Amino acid sequence: MLQALQSNWLLVGCAALFLLLGLLHTLVADPLFRRDARGGIRLLLVGAALRALHQLSADRLPPGVARALEVAWMIILSFGVIRSLVSLSLLVVRSRERPAPKILRDVLDATLYVITALVIVKEEFNLNLFSSLLAGSAIASVVLGLALQDTLGNLFAGLSLQLERPFEVGDLVSVGQETGRVLQIGWRATRLETKRREIITLPNNQLAKQTVKNFSRGNEPVGVDLYIKVSYEAPPNQVKRVVAETLAEVPLILASPPARARTWAFEEMSIEYRIRFFVADHARANRVRDEVLTRIWYRLRRAGLEIPAAPRTMRVTAPEHRDEFPLESRLAILEAVDLFNVLRPPEKEHLAKVMVPRSFGAGERIIEEGAPGQTFYLVADGTVAVTTRRGVEVTRLSRGQYFGEMSLLTGEPRSATVVAVEDAVLFELDRPGFKQLFAGHPELAAQFSTILAERRLQLQALADATLPPSDHPEANRILARLRQIFGLS
Ligand code: CMP
Repeated sequence: MLQALQSNWLLVGCAALFLLLGLLHTLVADPLFRRDARGGIRLLLVGAALRALHQLSADRLPPGVARALEVAWMIILSFGVIRSLVSLSLLVVRSRERPAPKILRDVLDATLYVITALVIVKEEFNLNLFSSLLAGSAIASVVLGLALQDTLGNLFAGLSLQLERPFEVGDLVSVGQETGRVLQIGWRATRLETKRREIITLPNNQLAKQTVKNFSRGNEPVGVDLYIKVSYEAPPNQVKRVVAETLAEVPLILASPPARARTWAFEEMSIEYRIRFFVADHARANRVRDEVLTRIWYRLRRAGLEIPAAPRTMRVTAPEHRDEFPLESRLAILEAVDLFNVLRPPEKEHLAKVMVPRSFGAGERIIEEGAPGQTFYLVADGTVAVTTRRGVEVTRLSRGQYFGEMSLLTGEPRSATVVAVEDAVLFELDRPGFKQLFAGHPELAAQFSTILAERRLQLQALADATLPPSDHPEANRILARLRQIFGLS
């Protein structure tokens, strides 16, 4: 081995390694490789410099110093070669699989360093450190063993985690109470970064004893379970329908595997339901959970279900929070609508009484374009956005403005989608309510028709503007005319 180290071929090999590492360092973005490559380059440079120093000054130095210098360059240069080759091999492994953890590199490096150092020392000084270590006193070995018990336990646990691969760097895992992304699997411990941006260091031997949930394997959908309690008065199928409609509305919930609500348990005060849905990335589970529970609250409330004083129990009370909207406040909203100025006070009062309040949470869809509909809405609070199917916003409506008249009056499908921009309270009026209005004030029908026509023209203009020129009706009309004049097929 010493001859190989002293040959000039080694220097040529080191120079080639140095150039290769330098080149890859500029080309490869992988930070772990870049760090390892820098370490390898440094060791190669220092080793080569010490070798040159030794060759130039060996004759002038005292023999002991010259020998120490020789051993030093041999060890450092060998370490440089080991570090470079290990980093190159791990780069190949990483390019095929997911990141190889630090512990693997450390164990490989350390084992090769120790073996090389022992061989060099043995050959240079004829000193067999390995057998001296093995032949050392039994008491010293026991003391050393005890002192290193924890460290070795962590190391072996780290290695077994590595071999078994229950998770890898970058995976989202939950261990005991903690959930976070694996930052590093080290000698002694594994580091997680939680959503609160804390770095949690878990000793490897503790980690090996706990149940670890990994949410990142193979980009598979991850299931999330939620439990809600609703009163016995609410028919389970109705509750499940409300939940299903809510789940269908939340964009981050995957369509497959399908989300489900199940009647889960008859409890003392309420019925428990389990809701299971799947998301692509567990890191977003809490956001989706919040969205689902928030929307369920609004939907249950609109369906005549509300959260009573009894903790965590929803019970039926009908109709929806009427007392929050006394007659005066309803009348005040009607005053804000120009169209209803023609109504006499008793008519307004009657209308105020038949309107039904509906609460919508920010982001909820109130009306879906293309769906059938026979309800008219008056905005009492908050803001809603009228959008086309392509997501173009037509306008925003707030207190005193209204929507839903087109389908109600013409029987056609909804002409646009209406979404609550912020929490909104609306008053709903149905066809019989309108019939009564028109019976007393036929002129209202003409006014509504004008508004309806204006809105429809605006929608049409917007639809035309967003069409590519080739699909535009005008382009088609011109094309038909051209074909006719020039006899084109
Ligand atoms: P309807 O078609 O029943 O449902 C969608 C509603 O969006 C529609 O009734 C109108 O009330 C409303 N809407 C459509 N276009 C406009 C517009 N240009 N300005 C204001 N509201 C509109």
